[in-house]
Amino acid sequence: MKSYVFETPGIENLRKIGNDMVYGTGLRVRILKAALNPLDYNVISGNIVYGLNPIPHIAGSEAIGELLEDGKGLKRGQRVIIYNRLYDSTCRMCRDGREYLCLNGGIWGVMTNGAFTEEVRIEEKNLVPIPEYVTDIQAVSLPIAALTPFHALNRASARAGEKLLIYGASGNTGILGLQFGNLMGLDVYAVSNNKEISTYGPVEIFPRNGVPDEFTADIVINPLGKETWADSLKHTSITGRMVAYGVLTGREGITNIPDLYTGEKTIIGSTGGSLNELMEILNIMKYHQIRIGVDRIFSFDELHQALKYFAAGRKGRVIIDFDL
Ligand SMILES: NC(=O)c1ccc[n+]([C@@H]2O[C@H](COP(=O)([O-])OP(=O)(O)OC[C@H]3O[C@@H](n4cnc5c(N)ncnc54)[C@H](OP(=O)(O)O)[C@@H]3O)[C@@H](O)[C@H]2O)c1
Ligand SMILES: [Zn+2]
Repeated sequence: MKSYVFETPGIENLRKIGNDMVYGTGLRVRILKAALNPLDYNVISGNIVYGLNPIPHIAGSEAIGELLEDGKGLKRGQRVIIYNRLYDSTCRMCRDGREYLCLNGGIWGVMTNGAFTEEVRIEEKNLVPIPEYVTDIQAVSLPIAALTPFHALNRASARAGEKLLIYGASGNTGILGLQFGNLMGLDVYAVSNNKEISTYGPVEIFPRNGVPDEFTADIVINPLGKETWADSLKHTSITGRMVAYGVLTGREGITNIPDLYTGEKTIIGSTGGSLNELMEILNIMKYHQIRIGVDRIFSFDELHQALKYFAAGRKGRVIIDFDL
């Protein structure tokens, strides 16, 4: 079994090792594809708020695979999405259908070894069969890139006819947020220097730092943190909701408190999404195409190059294909 492990942070410290170990517990799964996210890059670079476990560590948190054995309901040979939130099913968050907030849980690939290994063991409750109408490339973008903005829109109680403004719209989550916004009947606006995002659906694009002063939206999705925090609250309408799920440009932002309370605005934290929401996305995909822009596909042997390429800036997803 080949895996990439590191002990000291840094892409240069990733070592490819070979042994007989299949990490984790549950059903044996051969990884087919993994998609890169800021999370993986941050885990490998040592830039995360969570504690890593174990060390030496195998990163990788968004992946699909092929089952190598039968489960109680799942069958050997099935393609599966790995739902990457670890959960105990018993705490009050799990009982409330919010297993992504499990009080005894965490993120696969962060608090356990993850996807950058040829085979893993995953509990059956974390495996979701991929319907035949969903491609591998779509499926590997569901557990993080799609689920995160879908959940964020649910957290904001999005209603058709509302205006949605997305910061970081050309990113992994932004492109999917734009498409879900359209599907939910929202009027979508985006902050992006990349005009090509209009190929994903109807959207009015403002350049970075180019949102008109008077413009406001009912829902503002801002995964960028510090640099755009003050602006995104300013562009949240009276009674509007601003949703944060990332801190790409820094962890602390300045909040204009009178603006917050005089407009009865709401700042909402959001993270990941539930298994049920993942199933809802699969159901939406029965009737609507969800488009994933792939920038480049690398083989598993090219993981170092892939991570460097990811960090250098890209237009679309960077995917690791374990069959190349
Ligand atoms: N809590 C969760 O569950 C969760 C899940 C997924 C992601 N996240 C976090 O959410 C954030 C976004 O994730 P992602 O995967 O969508 O990231 P991404 O693919 O790296 O995209 C981020 C986008 O932000 C814009 N951007 C980058 N640097 C910027 C800057 N300095 N100022 C303004 N805009 C900038 C760019 O878009 P434009 O060129 O279009 O402006 C870029 O495409 C990350 O911090 C990630 O860790 C959290
Ligand atoms: Zn729990």
